[in-house]
Amino acid sequence: MSKVQQRDQQLATEEPSGLPASAAVEVRMVTKQFEPATAVDDVSLTLRRGEFLTLVGPSGCGKSTLLRMIAGLLEPDRGEILLGGRIVSSAGRWVPPEDRAVGLVFQENTLFPHLTVAGNVGFGLVRRAKSHIARRVADVLELVELVGYGDRFPHELSGGERQRVALARAIAPEPTVLLLDEPFANLDPNLRAQVRAHTVEILRRAEASALFVTHDQQEAMSMGDRVAVMNQGRVEQIGAPKTVFHLPKSHFVASSLGEAYFLPASHTGGGGLSTEAGPCSCPEETLPTEMEIMVRPHDVTFDADPNGESVVTAVEFQGAFLLYEVELPSGRRLRCLLPHTIEVDPGSKVRVRLEHGHVPVVLPARVKEK
Ligand SMILES: Nc1ncnc2c1ncn2[C@@H]1O[C@H](COP(=O)(O)OP(=O)(O)OP(=O)(O)O)[C@@H](O)[C@H]1O
Ligand SMILES: [Mg+2]
Repeated sequence: MSKVQQRDQQLATEEPSGLPASAAVEVRMVTKQFEPATAVDDVSLTLRRGEFLTLVGPSGCGKSTLLRMIAGLLEPDRGEILLGGRIVSSAGRWVPPEDRAVGLVFQENTLFPHLTVAGNVGFGLVRRAKSHIARRVADVLELVELVGYGDRFPHELSGGERQRVALARAIAPEPTVLLLDEPFANLDPNLRAQVRAHTVEILRRAEASALFVTHDQQEAMSMGDRVAVMNQGRVEQIGAPKTVFHLPKSHFVASSLGEAYFLPASHTGGGGLSTEAGPCSCPEETLPTEMEIMVRPHDVTFDADPNGESVVTAVEFQGAFLLYEVELPSGRRLRCLLPHTIEVDPGSKVRVRLEHGHVPVVLPARVKEK
């Protein structure tokens, strides 16, 4: 097994493997209140050394607040924060941000406009010897592939280049941890994918441990060794992207990582379940009496059938795939992702089938709002 495979296997395990002292970051039961709301509510999580953990969740759920407490820009009301096994924040101890060895990259362009690229990158190194600063700046600029850009000013750079300078500035003091708060949000989609891939490569090469905040579900799953889904100040689920995507523990988590529909299901005996979109099987022994199964667009397919009880209501061309919206007999709508070879016009009658290819996720039925 290669080193990379070993690392992936180790990181894919759900819980830290009993080495908290070597964890890059440990957040223990941390709470932060901004009257009247609780921005971060009793959060505990561990970022292992060399790990990339992505933090997703709706606006206002506490992602930035959590990052700012780890960086030391905000003081928690309760709980402890450890960096590299050292307490940096607790009831009796407070280490200021400049002594935490944490690098920060924010969404907005935070480069100093009056400093050159080299000046920006060397900004956090002021306490070191001049010769060291020059060498380190050159090394980091090489790492982010901006050799020769040292004398330029921020306004002479593209958006992607500016983002890489911001990254270089955060990496330069060799922080033990990098905290990135939506670092790509201001970039256009094409540039974003490119800068993101580049950033991952740079951080892996620097053997950094990183905590990323993102609104983008795809970004969360493709960048993170693990993903933490936050909801109203709490971490609702944390795990490998594959696990959180395929085995969400709640409706909220299911919808946070992609399009998800929930169909009421009933037992038909022998592990069989019946739904409006057709049967499926689930060998679980203990299923709730009132339940719903989670269906994603790639779990559903259909056959054109003039006697079918469902109807195609819309179709979205996506190149290699077509995303169909189908109305089931109850009026419930869901979308199916099918290969471009299956072409059906809106208005056509169809027979819908479930094709999970894996055991479906069963969740207790939600209480209906009155
Ligand atoms: N300095 C502050 N004073 C008062 N309330 C604050 C302060 N900072 C954040 N909040 C509140 O705390 C909650 C969490 O804010 P936070 O910035 O952590 O959210 P977020 O998850 O980063 O959201 P977004 O995705 O929009 O950036 C929000 O309700 C916000 O209004
Ligand atoms: Mg935020």
